[in-house]
Amino acid sequence: MAKEEKGKFTGKLGYVLATAGSAVGLGNLWRFPYLTAKYGGGAFLFTYLILVIIFGFGLVLAETAIGRKTGKSSILAFGALSPKHAWIGIIPAIVPVLILPYYSVVGGWVVKYLFGFLSGDAAAMTQNGYFGGYVSQSMEPLVFFFIFFSLTTVIVLGGVEKGIERMSKILMPVLVLLTLLIVIYGLSQPGAIEGVKYFILPNFSEFNAKTVLAAMGQMFYSLSISMTILITYGSYMAKDIPMDTSVLQVELFDTGIAILSGLMIIPAVFVFANGDLSNLHAGPSLMFVTLPKVFASMKGGAFVGIVFFILTLFAALTSSVSLLESVTSIFMDKWNLTRKKSIAIILIFSIIVGSLSSLGFGALSTVHILSLSIFDFLDTITNSVMMPVAALLTCYFVSRVIGCDTISDEVKISSPFKMEKLFIFTITYVAPLCIIIVLVSSILQTVGILSV
Ligand code: PFF
Repeated sequence: MAKEEKGKFTGKLGYVLATAGSAVGLGNLWRFPYLTAKYGGGAFLFTYLILVIIFGFGLVLAETAIGRKTGKSSILAFGALSPKHAWIGIIPAIVPVLILPYYSVVGGWVVKYLFGFLSGDAAAMTQNGYFGGYVSQSMEPLVFFFIFFSLTTVIVLGGVEKGIERMSKILMPVLVLLTLLIVIYGLSQPGAIEGVKYFILPNFSEFNAKTVLAAMGQMFYSLSISMTILITYGSYMAKDIPMDTSVLQVELFDTGIAILSGLMIIPAVFVFANGDLSNLHAGPSLMFVTLPKVFASMKGGAFVGIVFFILTLFAALTSSVSLLESVTSIFMDKWNLTRKKSIAIILIFSIIVGSLSSLGFGALSTVHILSLSIFDFLDTITNSVMMPVAALLTCYFVSRVIGCDTISDEVKISSPFKMEKLFIFTITYVAPLCIIIVLVSSILQTVGILSV
């Protein structure tokens, strides 16, 4: 593909595939379905889509343009445009440092399920309570977390990201195809239609500020907004690649895969419910509790399970590799460290924090921070606090510091900017207002002042 010697993406397709490859990961396959199930199905989906269309686009575009204009990655880009505002790059630089460890814990669960299917344990995995029993054992999940994290590190240290990227370009479409087949199989099962209704029909009695905050956090997470990653990819984007349509395609791809994953998992909860829909509130375990049941009911399901978890592992690895890459470049840029030293520091930090969040399901299950488990705390603090605040600061930076024109001019270098008015209106008014309202009302709700 796609990158010349200068490290630029030379074609639109190269840019879109690489960025989508990094964006599509566990956020789509694992996180989106469980949040949608938990927050009332259609009401969550509807909110998510509105947010992606309205200000997901504006934020992704703004970050990409900042990256391409400055040619700088991550933390240095804001300062390059306005030295006085360099500090705005700090939160987006901390976010991936905190996400990488617990992302790798989930990556470890994927490796465990792959091993399980490979070693013929598929039947045991269909049992209720299997996942809960597994994560609470402490030791084994730690081992699988190490395996996933080591894979990520070896890929980055060995400089074979390109190889992984190339492979993922073949494997991603296969993953989409397989997911589609599993969706078709699932939807043909009795009871699935109730699940589809739950997934797509909004029930606004379940709708409140927390739904919007969760949907907003998921949008940031899934599109890798406010994590410096889009700025980095933007800095690799050649000046002749049309920016607005590229961004739109990345969004479409990412959202399409999230919806497919939702259709794969949520109707299956209804199919295998036996009158008990409590799994809708299973949270992070949902994918791991539901899919083994789907595979067990399929002809050749043990094989499908193996292929599915291999492909999911690839999707997770392309994301964790780009997370580690972006954290490494932050350390190198900020403290002038060598690549090896940066990776060593991140390694130590991630192993400590990742182990703690994995043990939070087992030996450390009594440890709570703000009444959340260690894993949930990291997830909440990044998605529901730091990313919205960073996005708010980005809106401020673009609309009040450098001016929306700076972004528009950058976009117009390569193509006419058809959605310019919408972009300016969103970044200047809609996004900041929405973020402030959602943040304030969910804080009030958390402390019990508001009961919507
Ligand atoms: N967007 C990825 C996902 O949905 O799984 C997560 C992610 C990947 C975040 C890469 C940040 C990043 F640099």
